Amino acid sequence: MKKKIFNINNKKNKSKIVCLTAYSKNIASILDNFCDIVLVGDSLGSVLYNYKSTREVTLSSMIEHSKSVRMGIKKSLMVVDMPHNTYRNSKEALKNAKRIILKTKCDAIKLEGGRKIYNIVKVLIKNNIPVMGHLGLLPQSDKTFKFKGKKKSERNNILNDAKLLENAGVFSIVLECVESSLAKKITSEIKVPTIGIGSSNTCDGQILVFDDLVGLNPINVRFVKKYIDIRKNLKTAVSKYSKDVRRKKFPLKKHSY
Ligand code: KIV
Repeated sequence: MKKKIFNINNKKNKSKIVCLTAYSKNIASILDNFCDIVLVGDSLGSVLYNYKSTREVTLSSMIEHSKSVRMGIKKSLMVVDMPHNTYRNSKEALKNAKRIILKTKCDAIKLEGGRKIYNIVKVLIKNNIPVMGHLGLLPQSDKTFKFKGKKKSERNNILNDAKLLENAGVFSIVLECVESSLAKKITSEIKVPTIGIGSSNTCDGQILVFDDLVGLNPINVRFVKKYIDIRKNLKTAVSKYSKDVRRKKFPLKKHSY
């Protein structure tokens, strides 16, 4: 695990870090061949369960999805999001992070926030739990869901938070919807890699929600590039199956015992 984290850190200023989310084994096993990091993101709350926000995601649901993802991963670094209200203080964070790692065999966990979680992050790292930070738009607490870094005070806060997280010992930081020039400044001023989502290509790596990338999750936001319209392909397959069954063309003798 330490070697995997070293390899991620070592990519800074050398090669881009490729990351995607996965919520289950079959998808994870595809991503594993192409990604440096696979994140079991709490975005699964909105993507899979239609929750209004990630605040409704529970620890047990993250653990069950992560156990499935684990089965699909051989080489990538597997990171699991700690859901809302599972790291309100160091004691709670340590107990829950240990539980996630024990049950899912993941390599690291991710927490949202800066100065508010500084001491918590320090405690986790002191206990040998690798932590990925998350700054900018923080879905667990954000109210507006607008990009971050327009106002000077906000820019300073995010930059200072990045430095604090680096000081606490995180091995990388996700920058979500951070204005491009600020993402560039943070990336050049800290030594750990930044992983962008909607934060320009100046970050050391990029992450997207897999379901958005393949068009499975029908959303239309600026930072998503849809590489395939998988819903269209799936509709074609299911429609063919439906016709075959209705016309008695499936199952044939060769499909039967
Ligand atoms: O929950 C998630 O999927 C995330 C990524 C989009 C960074 O936090």
